[in-house]
Amino acid sequence: MSGTSKTSGFETHLARLRAAGEPTRLRLLLLLDRLDLTVSDLTALLNQSQPRISRHLKALVDAGLVRRFQEGAWAYFRAIDQGPARMALDGMLDPLDRDDGLIAEDMAKLDAIRQARSDRAAGYFAQNADQWNAIRAIHIAEDAVETAVLEMGLANTPKTLLDLGTGTGRMLELFGPHVERGTGIDTSRDMLALARAALERHGDRGLTVRLGDVYGDHSGIEGGSFNLIVLHQVLHFLEEPAIAMAQAAEVLARDGRMVIVDFAPHSAEFLRDEHAHRRLGVSSAQVGAWGAGAGLKVVETRRLPPPDGARDKLTVMVWSLTAS
Ligand SMILES: C[S@@+](CC[C@H](N)C(=O)[O-])C[C@H]1O[C@@H](n2cnc3c(N)ncnc32)[C@H](O)[C@@H]1O
Repeated sequence: MSGTSKTSGFETHLARLRAAGEPTRLRLLLLLDRLDLTVSDLTALLNQSQPRISRHLKALVDAGLVRRFQEGAWAYFRAIDQGPARMALDGMLDPLDRDDGLIAEDMAKLDAIRQARSDRAAGYFAQNADQWNAIRAIHIAEDAVETAVLEMGLANTPKTLLDLGTGTGRMLELFGPHVERGTGIDTSRDMLALARAALERHGDRGLTVRLGDVYGDHSGIEGGSFNLIVLHQVLHFLEEPAIAMAQAAEVLARDGRMVIVDFAPHSAEFLRDEHAHRRLGVSSAQVGAWGAGAGLKVVETRRLPPPDGARDKLTVMVWSLTAS
C-alpha cells in the first residue's frame, strides 16, 4: 500500500457503501474476498440468473470494490486487495460472522468449488504422471529454461533447497549436484512415486520427496529454513498463488532466494481444457504483487521466448525474489 492515499472523498466512500448495501452484493463481496470466481461460478453459488449476477458485479466493479480480469476466454472477479477501497471493504466485511447461517452456507459451497478445482488438477496429474516429463517438454524450450533457472537459483550458493510442487523431481535432480540437501513436496502420490524412482536412480541421498501441500506449513521440513525455494511450473495450477508464496516465504532464509518459473500470459485455451491449467500464464505484475504480500521483492526477471519457428511452444518467465 506504500504511496497509496489512505483516504477517500465523501462521495467516493458513499458510492462504495451504496454499491455494497444490498444482500446479494454483500454475499458476492464475501465470496470474492476468498477466491477468483467467474460469473458462472457465482451464478451457481448464489442460485441467481446470470444477468442479475452480472448487474451486481458491474455495480461492485464501478464502485472500485471488485476487480475484473480477463484470462483467455474467461473473466474472473476478485475483491480489491489494496488501497482505500480495501480499507472500506475491510470495514464492511470484518464484522460479519462467517459461521452465521447464510454466509456459512455460501462459504461451504465455495469450499466445494475450490475442492472440485483442485480435484480436477489432482486427477490430471494422477492420469498423466508417467508422461509428465514428455508433456513438460512439449510446451517449453527446456534446455534454455533449465540453464536460466540454474543460474538464477545458484546466485547465492544455496545449501538447502525446497522444491514446491516437485512433480517428478526434475528440479531436485537439476540442483542436486549443487546443494547439500533438497526436499520436494507434492500433493500427488503418483508424481511422488516417479520422483522417488528418479532420485533413487540419481543416487543422491541428500535429495528427498514427501507428500505435502504448497498451502501448508513447511516449518516441520528439514529445520524449516531454506536458502533456495523453487516453484517450477506450479503457480498456473493454483487457485491461490499468494497463499502458497506467503507460506514459502515463512521458511525462506533471510538471504535466501525464491525462484519462480511459469508461462508468460498466453492464450492457449486448450491448456485449461486439456491440461487442467487454472490460469493462462502468470504476469510479472502478479508475481510482484503476490511477492509483496509475502514480504518479498523481485530482484531479477528473465524472459525466455520460444526458439525461432517453434510456434507450438510458449514464452517462459523466470523470476528471482528475495526478502524485501
Ligand atoms: C506442472 S507440475 C510441475 C512439476 C515440476 N515442478 C516440474 O516442473 O516438472 C505441477 C505439480 O504441482 C503439484 N501441485 C498442484 N497443486 C499442489 C499443491 N496444492 N501442493 C503441492 N503440489 C501441488 C502437482 O501435483 C504437480 O506435480
